Amino acid sequence: MYLTGTMQFNEAGHLEIGGIDVVDLARDYGTPLWVIDELGFRQNCRAFRDAFARQGNSLVLYASKALTSLAIIRMVNEEGLGLDVVSGGELYTALEAGFPPQLIYFHGNNKSIDEITLAIDNSVGRIVVDNFYELSLLSDLCRAKNYTQDILLRITPGVEAHTHEFIQTGQIDSKFGFTLPDGQAMEGIKMALNSPNINLVGLHCHIGSQVFEMDSFRQATALMMDFVVEIHNKLGYQLDEIDMGGGFGIYYSAGDDPTYADDWADAVMSTVAEKARQANINIPRVIVEPGRAIVGPAGVTIYSIGSWKEVTNVRKYLAVDGGMADNIRTALYDAKYSAILGNKANLSPQEVVSIAGKCCESGDMLIWDIELPAAEAGDLLVVFATGAYNYSMSSNYNRLPRPAMVLVNDGRSDVIIKRETYADLISNDIIPQRLKAPR
Ligand code: LLP
Repeated sequence: MYLTGTMQFNEAGHLEIGGIDVVDLARDYGTPLWVIDELGFRQNCRAFRDAFARQGNSLVLYASKALTSLAIIRMVNEEGLGLDVVSGGELYTALEAGFPPQLIYFHGNNKSIDEITLAIDNSVGRIVVDNFYELSLLSDLCRAKNYTQDILLRITPGVEAHTHEFIQTGQIDSKFGFTLPDGQAMEGIKMALNSPNINLVGLHCHIGSQVFEMDSFRQATALMMDFVVEIHNKLGYQLDEIDMGGGFGIYYSAGDDPTYADDWADAVMSTVAEKARQANINIPRVIVEPGRAIVGPAGVTIYSIGSWKEVTNVRKYLAVDGGMADNIRTALYDAKYSAILGNKANLSPQEVVSIAGKCCESGDMLIWDIELPAAEAGDLLVVFATGAYNYSMSSNYNRLPRPAMVLVNDGRSDVIIKRETYADLISNDIIPQRLKAPR
């Protein structure tokens, strides 16, 4: 169901989040508006943290690519999670928010020298090394600084998770990691063990995103643990950590059937423990990196409805004041969303409409074929589960300023990301001298 965390309908027949009516939020901050339910976000952090902690030695990292900002990182830290970053920008955001560097895991298939240097100079906990080139680069950079870096090696186990092909990552034909079946992974391990100033702590993999089948995780964990055992038996080296990535699926629309954090924890941790017991090796610490499952359901977007168009016997388009610039997932992945009229939440659906954005592009659609009560200009469309991969993938396409983001909790609302202005849009533009028109 799309109502999660503190979302509920109030007596006025409006949607309320964090104890605040969405009509008030739209009036006070304008639309489009991203709203994050603080309690919902924190509850999701705790659900994963506690589910894994109950099963044994574990650390849950929040995958900040789903949504990052100084305030978001503060909450992640308060909830006792670690952090997954994938770029210098995400790392910088975390450091500026005061996140403990030792709890940061730095991923990426093509980290630059500057990015690696930023990570080393700030003593991040782990660098997740993706390929041979990075391994030698990192070793050289560390040696020059007389510093030793703890690393995980990213492995591509060859598990195809059932999800959109663009967000599958564990299959063999992937740009990420050392491939397991062809022996590249073992080569990487040997090279890491022989690299000066590198301390190999464990393995990482990520099979894909928006995954519902716990069997995919079980299968990948088993393959990774078989490799941990092989490394132990062939090289006499015990790895202390196994990081199974993120990917836990959430509810967007009918047909999505997410399970519980405990099921994921069980699928991963019981497989790790069982394999370790069979091989008589130490049970490595388990790391996971959910992003979407923590922040996705905790976010909604409020839009104002404007124009509409009826194509006779085909469909009715309702246009909102945002679109692919603030949510590109429908256009890019054919993603499905649920939505309601936030100011008419008590009315029954009356017609099937399609929600269009305001960009100059036919593909700029947010939702195809959704049942809504009769809508008119000025009504508020609330799209659910937009917390993940909306702001973080947003753009200024058509020079639309990015919406504001507001954090709500217990009747209180605070802007955590300011709405962009037209002036912001040109703030990095430069007119070269030679283009300055002579008068
Ligand atoms: N760890 C690694 C190494 C990853 O590559 C990802 C996501 C995660 C963790 C977090 O996955 P999550 O728990 O959020 O599924 N833009 C796409 C999603 C791309 C995910 C990429 N990697 C979307 O909008 O669906």
